[in-house]
Amino acid sequence: MTDGRPPAILGDWWRPGAIYQIYPRSFQDSGGDGIGDLEGIRRRLDYLVGLGVDAIWISPFYPSPMHDFGYDVSNYCDVDPIFGSLRDFDLLLADAHRSGLKIVLDFVPNHTSIEHEWFAASRQRRDDKSDWYIWRDGAPSGGPPNNWRSHFGGPAWSFDSARGQYYYHAFLPQQPDLNWRNPKVKAAMFDVLRFWLRRGVDGFRVDVISQLMKDEALRDNPANPGWTPLRPQIEELLQLYSGDQDDIHPLIAEMRGVLAEFGDPLLIGEIYLPMERLVAYYGAALSGAHLPFNFQLLETPWQAESLGAMIASYEALLPEGAWPNWVLSNHDRPRVATRVGDAQARVATMLLLTLRGTPTLYYGDELGIGHVDISPPRIRDPWALREPSLAVGRDPVRTPMQWDDSANAGFSTHEPWLPLTPDWPERNVERFEAEPASLLHLTRRLLHYRRDHRTLSLGSWRLLASSNELLAYERRSGQETTIVVLNLGGASQLWRLDPAGSSFCVAISTYCDRAGERVDQVLRLRPDEGVVLAVLG
Ligand code: GLC
Repeated sequence: MTDGRPPAILGDWWRPGAIYQIYPRSFQDSGGDGIGDLEGIRRRLDYLVGLGVDAIWISPFYPSPMHDFGYDVSNYCDVDPIFGSLRDFDLLLADAHRSGLKIVLDFVPNHTSIEHEWFAASRQRRDDKSDWYIWRDGAPSGGPPNNWRSHFGGPAWSFDSARGQYYYHAFLPQQPDLNWRNPKVKAAMFDVLRFWLRRGVDGFRVDVISQLMKDEALRDNPANPGWTPLRPQIEELLQLYSGDQDDIHPLIAEMRGVLAEFGDPLLIGEIYLPMERLVAYYGAALSGAHLPFNFQLLETPWQAESLGAMIASYEALLPEGAWPNWVLSNHDRPRVATRVGDAQARVATMLLLTLRGTPTLYYGDELGIGHVDISPPRIRDPWALREPSLAVGRDPVRTPMQWDDSANAGFSTHEPWLPLTPDWPERNVERFEAEPASLLHLTRRLLHYRRDHRTLSLGSWRLLASSNELLAYERRSGQETTIVVLNLGGASQLWRLDPAGSSFCVAISTYCDRAGERVDQVLRLRPDEGVVLAVLG
């Protein structure tokens, strides 16, 4: 927890800023093929500016055979024709900057596509690239070199008959892992960062950053005693040696050094680790990621006690000067409305946008898009196809943005690559614009309020209550105090305000109907209602 003083370093845009994640296949199609593209994003910039976000992070749009929908990159310095061209990217970047929006790219350094020319050379031991990937002979007793599993099920090693050895792939066989212990790999990948930084990008979200370094001896991972067959195969083993090694931290510091050549653009790290391990990714003397993605809101049970305890522990674990961040949904996990339901999705949005630190919103969450059933013939996610017995499919969270009630929800003139939600004629941007109490209006109101009141983004955070389905906290900066009270249950509640003598005024209710209401002593909360209260003194 902080002590009430505003943080010392306020200069970086991303501290008070809010980030909006765009899955480019699904945001806006301009080419009429049912798949979103960069020009589509450019045409929707006004929407994003109006919403009140500060930056967009765009999932990969580089040339790719799309085995993992762009997370299998075959050329790091170009744009896949599905998404447009480098020229489209430059136009998007220029227009975004003109409108005050930053652009954060997805950098995928752990693995390339099997179709990358580096892998072609490596499997033939050509061009000095023999050691650019992780090649090993099979175990003496036969079979793969060790017991590591792929995140998408099955072994993490495949035999390459061209080379007569196994190669390691933490994900699909079509995604061979690079050998980051080879200085040439490091140099080549750092040049990729420079390529995009020279074009003017504002930062990177680094894919599976914690897995770049693996145990040098490639020791077997130990069994996970808690695993059951209902869980993904990867979890059958504890990931002790296949990632999160100590030598990742100096490597990230070097990456930061490359970014420092261009000012200090934002470095976000994708890291699914327990909080205690996660915070190590800020690095010694904050030389690591500016924002190691904090996925706790995706994983914590939706109860006042658990959420309050989790937020307080995260705040307490942050190293001195480290900046917090929060993620509510992304392209890999069920959407927030699926996890907590429609009514609580509004409360969750208020929570995300009133905690201390940088929030990341996921496209479509401002419409409360929920689970979309994908019929078996339309399943595209490789993980869902490889572990069909588990509910791990990621297609339901990657469906197209719903803009209006015209054909294909205004997303495309062509049938979209994934289906829309069944309620898209009612759940779309145009319709929600016309409903003053819609989740879209609530999200926009919160983002703008946050921008106008730095107490909400930068002020200190103090837990006031977390029990009986009520979560309440105070945000404070200088003379300004804001109180947030969230009713996580379906019954009405009363919240007694403290200290007596102050007066309070509702700034925002998740029902969007009581702004300006004066509150004395007792706040009445309706079911599933969240309230931001300004303390008048
Ligand atoms: C990250 C991405 C995920 C991808 C995986 C492999 O976890 O978020 O979508 O499948 O890395 O690149």
